[in-house]
Amino acid sequence: MRKFVIAGNWKMHKTLPQAVALASDMKEGLRTLEEIDIIICPPFIALDGVRDAVQGTKICIGAQNMHWEAEGAFTGEISPPMVQDLCTHVIIGHSERRSHFGEADTMVNRKVVAAIAHGLTPIVCVGETDDENRAGKTREVLDRQTTRALAGLSAQQAAAAIVAYEPVWAIGTGRAASPAEANETIGLVREVIGREFDAPTAAAIRILYGGSINPGVWPDIIAQPEVDGGLVGGASLFAEDFIALAVQTRAAYAASLRP
Ligand code: 13P
Repeated sequence: MRKFVIAGNWKMHKTLPQAVALASDMKEGLRTLEEIDIIICPPFIALDGVRDAVQGTKICIGAQNMHWEAEGAFTGEISPPMVQDLCTHVIIGHSERRSHFGEADTMVNRKVVAAIAHGLTPIVCVGETDDENRAGKTREVLDRQTTRALAGLSAQQAAAAIVAYEPVWAIGTGRAASPAEANETIGLVREVIGREFDAPTAAAIRILYGGSINPGVWPDIIAQPEVDGGLVGGASLFAEDFIALAVQTRAAYAASLRP
């Protein structure tokens, strides 16, 4: 059974004191939800403070990005050993990294490989743009992004990774994918993983949905059989909303365990 995940990507929001305050506000509400994996991904400079703020809980901390080299002359970058000190997870290949900072599939793959080499669980983002969706290219784009991002991993490494399907047209638009769309497309990504690795890997890997998740739409999406959790942007900046999403995720997980 795939353990469900709820992850908050805070993106470029919150100063250090604000981030610590937000994490502290979430802590109690999330404390009892231990059946699912809860991950919060604040900006780099707040990783240490947020980690301290949630100490004593099972809340995991993730980075939003990292370089693939262990060290070197890469001004402004953060390396895997730096991330590894503070985090268990790292988001790789978010569509905002791809579109604003030119991250191509090869770079995404290097980062995924580096994350695993340093004991971090990568949350690998894939997703088609609105244009690609309208042109009927969703399958092609997701096949390429998924195959290239996970290239060179063993089946065991791939099975332990997390993939997030985030349609670019749904990110920050208030227009989440429908439950059926999310289910179908995540099924497609799982199919690609089955082809590239094997059936047990496809059955084991957690694939999340992301894009305009809020507590109003989430119960119907997370109830879908292919959806193993969510990667939340805007709503993760509000303690009450993120706690509500985590509670909904736990309820869906409990329901999925019932015969
Ligand atoms: P929103 O939930 O704000 O649409 O962002 C989704 C996202 O990009 C999470 O990584």
